[in-house]
Amino acid sequence: MSSFPSRVDVREVGPRDGLQAEAPIDVATRVALIESLLDAGVTHIEAAAFVSPKAVPAMAGGAEVLAALPRRPGLVFAALVPNLKGAELALAAGVDELTITVSASEAYSERNVRMSVEESVVAAAGICALAGSVPADVIVSCAFGSPYEGDIAPDEVAVLGRRLIEQGASRVTYADTTGMATPRRIDELVDLTGDDVGLHLHDTRGTALVNAYAALLRGVRRFDTAVGGLGGSPFAAGAGGNLGTEDLVHLLDDLGIETGIDLDRLLGVSREVATIVDHEVPSRLASAGPRSKPAAV
Ligand code: COA
Ligand code: ZN
Repeated sequence: MSSFPSRVDVREVGPRDGLQAEAPIDVATRVALIESLLDAGVTHIEAAAFVSPKAVPAMAGGAEVLAALPRRPGLVFAALVPNLKGAELALAAGVDELTITVSASEAYSERNVRMSVEESVVAAAGICALAGSVPADVIVSCAFGSPYEGDIAPDEVAVLGRRLIEQGASRVTYADTTGMATPRRIDELVDLTGDDVGLHLHDTRGTALVNAYAALLRGVRRFDTAVGGLGGSPFAAGAGGNLGTEDLVHLLDDLGIETGIDLDRLLGVSREVATIVDHEVPSRLASAGPRSKPAAV
């Protein structure tokens, strides 16, 4: 038990990754969802994406979302940006953190941002310079493999991450965009990067929670999750949902690892998000309930 961190930072990406492939939801509803997450004790939220509204119609209105959010010390609102234009818009909207998308996969990079990996790294460096004192977290997608090229060597991924830090990234988050990671592959990457990394896990093959557990054993303290386990990139074949926030918080509560998030309230938000998207959500807890309060009892 002693090797676990005492607290982890759960960055809620539901309002961005969770909703990006859904039918567009209006700004007021997205803001209300974020307010519900705040009420549940979530303090770190990827609230918007400043991307082409033609590419991702569901993320239109990012500036309006940010303008409507309550701002107080301790709350961090991030926004995903793919290029300098997105970064300018996000900074003008007063974002607290930029999440910059770069891919370890050439084919996914072209599909997602219409740039080669190299062009995207150059764009990321420009964004980091523009960001000034605003933290810039580069998310390396397909870090554990790509649906187009298959496995991507961990040393190649770690070299890319180091290069991004050298070019001004405040930190790097490795994303398992299509659920190709396994605990062994998490270990292999953390062997090379150390534990000061973020992980953005998808549950396409049912491995997201075991991957998170493997990372916790290695001392990783930053995780991206989406309420309800919604999400997935519209540009990656067979992406699958994010690790559900409630599923991770349930595990962390049982391990005695602090998040500041109230699980009961979070489950209320999970029900709210199912209503918003008008379909059932894939998280395990949404259907089974917490072990202290199983849904069938
Ligand atoms: N925000 C809003 N609009 C943007 C933009 C941004 N960050 N970047 C470019 N645009 C606009 C341009 O102004 C232009 O508008 P116009 O057609 O009205 O003139 C249009 O988008 C095309 O611009 P261009 O630079 O040629 O972009 P592109 O067509 O090569 O697309 C991206 C590149 C990066 C903008 C687009 O692929 C994208 O938004 N990808 C985001 C993908 C995403 O969110 N993935 C989620 C998983 S990480
Ligand atoms: Zn994702």
